[in-house]
Amino acid sequence: MKKTVGQILWMGVFTLLSTSSLLAQTGNEAPVKVEKASRVNKVTNLAPTPPMGWNSWNTFQTNINEQLLRNMVDVYVSSGMKDAGYRYFTLDDGWMSMERDQNGQLVADPKKFPSGMKAFADYVHSKGLKFGIYNCAGDKTCAGYPGTRGHEYEDARLYASWGVDLLKYDWCNTDSLNAREAYITMARALQATGRPILFSLCEWGNHQPWLWADGVGEMYRATGDITANFDKDKHMGTWTALSVLTIVDKQPAIRQYNGPNHWNDADMLEVGNGMSYGEDKAHFTMWCMLAAPLVAGNDLRKMSAQTRGILTDKEAIAINQDAMGVAAYRISGNADGVEIWIKPLSNKNWAICFLNRSAQPQTVDYNWTKNALHDAQTKQDADFTKTTYKLHSLWDKKDIGTTKKAFKQTIPAHDVVLLTLKQS
Ligand code: GLA
Repeated sequence: MKKTVGQILWMGVFTLLSTSSLLAQTGNEAPVKVEKASRVNKVTNLAPTPPMGWNSWNTFQTNINEQLLRNMVDVYVSSGMKDAGYRYFTLDDGWMSMERDQNGQLVADPKKFPSGMKAFADYVHSKGLKFGIYNCAGDKTCAGYPGTRGHEYEDARLYASWGVDLLKYDWCNTDSLNAREAYITMARALQATGRPILFSLCEWGNHQPWLWADGVGEMYRATGDITANFDKDKHMGTWTALSVLTIVDKQPAIRQYNGPNHWNDADMLEVGNGMSYGEDKAHFTMWCMLAAPLVAGNDLRKMSAQTRGILTDKEAIAINQDAMGVAAYRISGNADGVEIWIKPLSNKNWAICFLNRSAQPQTVDYNWTKNALHDAQTKQDADFTKTTYKLHSLWDKKDIGTTKKAFKQTIPAHDVVLLTLKQS
């Protein structure tokens, strides 16, 4: 598609902006001030808390079709996922025909989606859910289907005509494209449709989107793809799929950038995809603590009661969805032991997670009165010698006394204890 004069001008403006102050480094150092692009996609407040949904990729890759997905939509509702707060139902890569049509339009694969994409979107909406779709900033998607490069505005119009509510926008086959400009162009194309479409950036953190994506999209992947393994990355030839702990370890450096309408995306969940119950619980807990988007990636039709119990736990989800929208910080840790993660919550409450990274059970003996909390980012603090908090053990569903008494518990290997602290 030929670009309009308006598009070319916009691209020029963003090229200028992108040369300005984006060389700032991240890390545990003090927050850096970064010049933002003009707010592109910000009028709508689409994600005041981390988005929640389901995505087809982790279980089905490109093996998706209308019947399978309609069943999944039905189970999304009947299993309690919708009641627990999940809203988006997103088709990832593989929904298209291999070629655009003679008018340059994307076409839903007629074998996989015989009723067409509008009908499928209508079905999703008829259940009170929101409909998400996938494409890529490059010439082709990661699985080789037609990408959006050069078709941004017409693809956005097509999605809007189908009733798309979320676009996940990937970064394969992008050659020399400038990431910030490419995502801004697509954000403007979505904005131009007039339909509120949540924009989910997926360039794997390669170009530090936490520095520039606030105002461009509501969430941005900060890491490469996840794999269903707690502590071992998986080498895939040209790239590496990341374990839960590898992704967790990348979060402290970008904590300061996380917040309402610009969420650090730790990737889709692997809960229910082969890890142990404790590992799944620890994985989900950490995504809640990190205020990361919660996008389930399991086969909802076959989920066990345990998997369902994790994914729909209202107390854990409340921590994720807390209105303050702040990620947890890590106050101690070592590779083989127990780490302590602290999340400030609204009303001066807190969530504290003891994460046992090791392959052995570990015993925690935590003396509150000797460990005041102070979060430099939110300035929230708690001095337990002065204020007593009630403790609730979230996964055990038990109140366990107060911060007057030290907390002692053995945590199984690759598992967590998650406590909420409320002022008594
Ligand atoms: C990339 C993304 C994944 C998924 C696949 C689809 O790897 O990071 O989340 O969308 O592409 O091909």
